Amino acid sequence: MFTSGKSEKIDWEVEDNISDIDEADINWLQIAELYAGAPLVRRPSVDWKRAFAASSEIAFVRLASQFGRAGRVIGAARAISDGQFYATILDVGVDAGFQRQGIGRALVSNLLERLKVERVYLTSAAGKQGFYHRLGFLKLNNAFGYYAPGPRAEAMELGLISPPNCAGNDI
Ligand SMILES: CC(C)(COP(=O)(O)OP(=O)(O)OC[C@H]1O[C@@H](n2cnc3c(N)ncnc32)[C@H](O)[C@@H]1OP(=O)(O)O)[C@@H](O)C(=O)NCCC(=O)NCCS
Repeated sequence: MFTSGKSEKIDWEVEDNISDIDEADINWLQIAELYAGAPLVRRPSVDWKRAFAASSEIAFVRLASQFGRAGRVIGAARAISDGQFYATILDVGVDAGFQRQGIGRALVSNLLERLKVERVYLTSAAGKQGFYHRLGFLKLNNAFGYYAPGPRAEAMELGLISPPNCAGNDI
């Protein structure tokens, strides 16, 4: 699959045919910086490489041309899937300098086209719900997440998760 885009400022293309992550021309330090600066999350580059390597589908957006920076990754996303029923999309990130130019949409659309499952889930970062609404995602009324203590406290503080109500019958 090949998707490309062009805006007034940049040309870019989606790369989704990576079969061997060790052979891929990916600068994981730069990926870590992209996610930290997006901003999404700060994680060590080796952890990013491991997570992408273990994912079912991965996609990157590279600059096709621009002031000698052709090939630089300016967007990334990944998904894990059972290949049949369920998948989840994770870590959709676009370089802060290239947002709102259709790159996030291209990444998610690319993954959706390749996942071929009945249901695709994701959790939105704070304030990004509108982006997923625009892409056709619907809000789940019955979703639950099990978080490790650190991420749990952080998500609670951001209002992204809430404790069950006393009766436990939210729906
Ligand atoms: C969220 C993010 C991935 C969106 O990528 P992007 O390339 O800026 O978005 P696009 O230009 O493809 O936008 C697609 C559509 O969503 C809309 N949109 C983008 N960001 C939005 C936001 N924060 N709120 C509401 N709508 C938004 C756009 O206006 C566009 O709508 P349209 O096509 O109907 O005109 C990007 O802003 C980002 O990386 N943010 C930081 C990291 C992050 O929060 N990632 C999400 C993890 S869950």
